[in-house]
Amino acid sequence: MKVSEALASRITTRAFLKKPVPEETVRAILEQASRAPSGGNLQPWNAHVLTGEPLANLIAAVAETRQTHPAGEGSDYDIYPPNLKEPYRTRRYRCGEMLYGILGIPREDKTARLAQFAKNYDLFGAPVGLFFTIDREMRQGQWADLGMFMQSLMLLAREYRLHTCPQEAWAVFTPTLRRVLDIPDGHMFFCGMGLGYMDETDKVNELRTERASLAEIARFNGF
Ligand SMILES: Cc1cc2nc3c(=O)[nH]c(=O)nc-3n(C[C@H](O)[C@H](O)[C@H](O)COP(=O)(O)O)c2cc1C
Repeated sequence: MKVSEALASRITTRAFLKKPVPEETVRAILEQASRAPSGGNLQPWNAHVLTGEPLANLIAAVAETRQTHPAGEGSDYDIYPPNLKEPYRTRRYRCGEMLYGILGIPREDKTARLAQFAKNYDLFGAPVGLFFTIDREMRQGQWADLGMFMQSLMLLAREYRLHTCPQEAWAVFTPTLRRVLDIPDGHMFFCGMGLGYMDETDKVNELRTERASLAEIARFNGF
């Protein structure tokens, strides 16, 4: 598969088949993704990789916490800046509207929207969950490195006919994740990720999000 094909076919997948992913495939993807670059070659990425019973236990623990803390217990970082400004605010809004539009869930139907959002905490059915942490002492540059590692992993997944779903939604349950995954205090929890085979029959996976034009994001000089 060409890199451009992997990039074009990677989408945030929100419905997976239960079909398991072989351990050697998951290991190969992580090992190859670790060729990602990092400033000073710090390789500041860490992942907890779960399937089967440990994953079911984590999902159950978060489900239990959600009973008492439906909106979350708190995260190690601000997922978005407070008062998200333009153009980011509109981009975020558009993505939500397109998602719920495809599912036929109107704006007023808060219950259905929340139910769809809650699927995050079942990894949208993915058989493998990755949970990324980073040493608390790391700075913005190293967080960017972690992102490059994750994108490498998501593109490699395509080569194995797998799909992914990066999920910051888990971050609001950091205390529960910390307890169940035994994340040390010196590490911050960044986000989760579902990995598995896409359920091609589910409408939710028809979503193709928009991108800003090159004119909006890049300035060319000297060409
Ligand atoms: C770090 C990160 C965290 C994300 N967290 C979530 C999440 O918790 N739940 C979700 O449904 N999508 C999540 N997304 C998916 C984004 O909404 C998605 O990447 C964006 O809308 C672009 O769509 P695409 O990935 O299909 O191209 C996340 C993406 C990234 C990169």
